Amino acid sequence: MIRVQEPTTIRFGSPHRHFETTDSTNERAKFLAETGAPGGLVVTAGSQVAGRGRRGRSWFAGPGSSLLYSALLRPLGDRPLLPLLVPLAVCDAAEELGDRTCKIKWPNDVWVDERKLAGVLIEGRPDADPADSWAVIGIGLNLDLSDVGIPDDLEGRVAWLGRDVDHDLALERLNRALESWLAASDSKILEEFRRRDLLVGRDLEWDGGSGTARGIDDLGHLLVETGDETIALGAGEVSLGANLRGG
Ligand code: BTN
Repeated sequence: MIRVQEPTTIRFGSPHRHFETTDSTNERAKFLAETGAPGGLVVTAGSQVAGRGRRGRSWFAGPGSSLLYSALLRPLGDRPLLPLLVPLAVCDAAEELGDRTCKIKWPNDVWVDERKLAGVLIEGRPDADPADSWAVIGIGLNLDLSDVGIPDDLEGRVAWLGRDVDHDLALERLNRALESWLAASDSKILEEFRRRDLLVGRDLEWDGGSGTARGIDDLGHLLVETGDETIALGAGEVSLGANLRGG
């Protein structure tokens, strides 16, 4: 069922804590959330020594090269499409900052020109009492990687916005875009995600099977045609292979 999201009044960026170097902005934001920080808190860093990605991976970002961002959404409320709306916000912010067209590799990687521009890691306490629940929205957005040594395994697989991207402006754009998408209806989120879907029509492999991507259902699951049936995959259940084949 498609719900109509109540308008939200959340504003991101107040308070704002910036660290020159930290372990992980998500870790800092979670710690602050656990010690009573208000919704709207944003934590940023110039560099992370233990930046984390999805599925236990690490997140590479050379010092000063990226917007390393974690925002506290509190209370979380009932937001099953949060993992889809966050990359939509990143796309809007990135397209305002540079002349790029962003696509989303389900569930929430942002890609330009077949390379990854940004990643999203959402963590929190979704199972607690809804009134007391929260989520940390972690985003790593590559601004300018041209002067940092890119690890061999990422060479040719990462994108960045360009040379003259202002970090403060990027932060501002991301805060505003997130606020805007958090106020959007489910139908708008689904429509825009489908417009930006990188995988649709492509052949995929994941831990447990292979098939052809057929878009997303109204709950945000990935639909995959596997021979004689179409199955719905949840983001927590599968890890897609890095290779993208087909058109
Ligand atoms: C992924 O694509 O695997 C998700 C990457 C998320 C990286 C960001 S950088 C800011 C925040 N702090 C972290 O430790 N991780 C997220």
